[in-house]
Amino acid sequence: MKGLILSGGAGTRLRPITHTSAKQLVPVANKPILFYGIEDMVAAGITEIGIITGETGAEVREAVGDGSSFGAEITYIAQEEPLGLAHCVLIAKSFLGDDDFVMYLGDNMLQQGLEGFVSRFELDRAEAAAQRLDGAVADPSAQILLCEVSDPQRFGVAELDADGHVSKLVEKPEQPRSNLALVGVYLFTPAIHEAVEAIEPSERGELEITDAIQWLIDNGHRVRHDVLDGWWLDTGKKDPLLESNRRVLETIETRIDGEVDERSQIDGRVIVEAGARVIDSRIQGPAMIGPGTTVERSYVGPFTAVAEDCMLRDSEVEHSVILRRATIEGVPRLTDSLVGRDTQVRRSKQRPSGTRLMIGDDCSVDLE
Ligand code: DAU
Repeated sequence: MKGLILSGGAGTRLRPITHTSAKQLVPVANKPILFYGIEDMVAAGITEIGIITGETGAEVREAVGDGSSFGAEITYIAQEEPLGLAHCVLIAKSFLGDDDFVMYLGDNMLQQGLEGFVSRFELDRAEAAAQRLDGAVADPSAQILLCEVSDPQRFGVAELDADGHVSKLVEKPEQPRSNLALVGVYLFTPAIHEAVEAIEPSERGELEITDAIQWLIDNGHRVRHDVLDGWWLDTGKKDPLLESNRRVLETIETRIDGEVDERSQIDGRVIVEAGARVIDSRIQGPAMIGPGTTVERSYVGPFTAVAEDCMLRDSEVEHSVILRRATIEGVPRLTDSLVGRDTQVRRSKQRPSGTRLMIGDDCSVDLE
């Protein structure tokens, strides 16, 4: 079994952060989202992994390297334009060869990992082989993962027939016929290669993986599905990203490797990385303070991940993700925020007083 992780695409919904960097490298609990997918694959025994990259390929390659730090062997596959998820399978054909593979969207996060997903497919195939002795049960050609959602029009949506089998898949339908969204994790056998070659681009000009799976169904292949148990998030927007951060921080254990002075107070589960300094401050977990970061005369509240080399001074921050080398100074209360790399949010004593902004395109500022 091989792995294929999709880390190209445009990332328009996390702009401006993704004007300059890959959306799959935005950190959740101070670790790039993409790393969770790689780790889940390795934990499921999948170590030969192809990563599809787009215009942020150099940054992805620099972050992941050859995969040895994950116990994996990574092959990078460059996609010149984001022409769709099925296009990714098309260009990965020589890497995938005749192997089964798990395809994982690099901006998805799921709680349950991949071990059960892979083993249920193997079990189904073994059972089908055993039953073939008496009847005719076809091997499954693909497996998808579904999750009940309240806003199915944002996703690929599956319809089940009276027997509970997947009968129809539609990408982002205006009028969804079910609330079962396709989670961005798929398992394919080599049968998918014929499907991705057979389909045409959709109205939005992409080769859709939903159309390729529909092609499998229409051509007599068996597509099995599981309904997800546990949480799943498509982190491509700010709020789901903060929610992923919250969910992962909920699982951390306290570890204080940095310096915390005697005037500071640490409550709840908190990680203070080596090289971080907490001075005259209060940290209320779950929260993480990255290496080289200084927190001075400040409050860091629950569900906050501050990355490396940041400076928080005379400020209060909670339920936020702060990327590396950001400075937050004199800000009484920052909440529900995603603060990009090398940014500065500070209260100045400049007169006349006022809010002075230097913000990029596609930003959103929500003043108190
Ligand atoms: O998150 C689940 C949803 O993911 C599914 O329900 C949908 O059926 C599926 O089409 C997909 O929808 P999105 O609109 O969220 O896909 P997005 O364009 O965000 O791409 C998903 C990942 O794949 C992302 O990490 C970028 C990468 N990608 C995307 C395209 C279109 C590529 O590497 N190449 C591409 O050409």
